[in-house]
Amino acid sequence: MTSILALSGSLRAKSFNSMLLQAAVAVAPAGTSLEIGSIRDIPLYDGDVEARSGLPPAVAALKERIVAADGLLLASPEYNNGIPGVFKNAIDWLSRPGSDIPRVFGDRPVGVIGATIGRGGTAMAQAAWLPVLRMLGAQLFVGERLQVASAGSAFDTSSGALTDASVRSLLEKYMAGFARFVERQRASSAGP
Ligand SMILES: Cc1cc2nc3c(=O)[nH]c(=O)nc-3n(C[C@H](O)[C@H](O)[C@H](O)COP(=O)(O)O)c2cc1C
Repeated sequence: MTSILALSGSLRAKSFNSMLLQAAVAVAPAGTSLEIGSIRDIPLYDGDVEARSGLPPAVAALKERIVAADGLLLASPEYNNGIPGVFKNAIDWLSRPGSDIPRVFGDRPVGVIGATIGRGGTAMAQAAWLPVLRMLGAQLFVGERLQVASAGSAFDTSSGALTDASVRSLLEKYMAGFARFVERQRASSAGP
């Protein structure tokens, strides 16, 4: 079984990015488990807190969930053409201490998808993740692309269901490709 941990970069109850991850769970291919984690309990990064008390419990726990998973899927909103602060803040905490980056992110297969009410489909935010993931030494999945524009009409906002058939089929394609990518990385890191 290939395991993927997914994180939404939005705290909103009616977040389209969280809805996208719920839909991804439903279309994950056979042999792949997709679990949704949360960044909600991660505080603002404060170097004094880290120096005094180390990692907050929510950060330490989420780090271990990433380590336990074969792959990491980020559903990122786009704010002002960039990465939302709450999401970047979470990844910044998860990258501490720096000496632990190889264990948590190094060579880990990571996918970035996103949904927006705008027309750009989070393309700018997804591009902004590139230097961050490169810095962390992750293996970025670029084999498919999922940039959901006009999300207000792709989801049923009351139930959270993904109702747009073309987005669903793109999501299926993305998840199939990402799961294969994660599985390949897992097989190659397991050695001969
Ligand atoms: C501060 C802020 C800045 C935003 N900037 C952008 C933007 O640059 N591009 C875009 O497509 N949408 C932008 N939006 C709209 C978001 O795409 C929209 O709020 C979306 O629903 C956020 O994702 P969520 O539904 O997962 O919370 C912005 C929203 C906020 C609150």
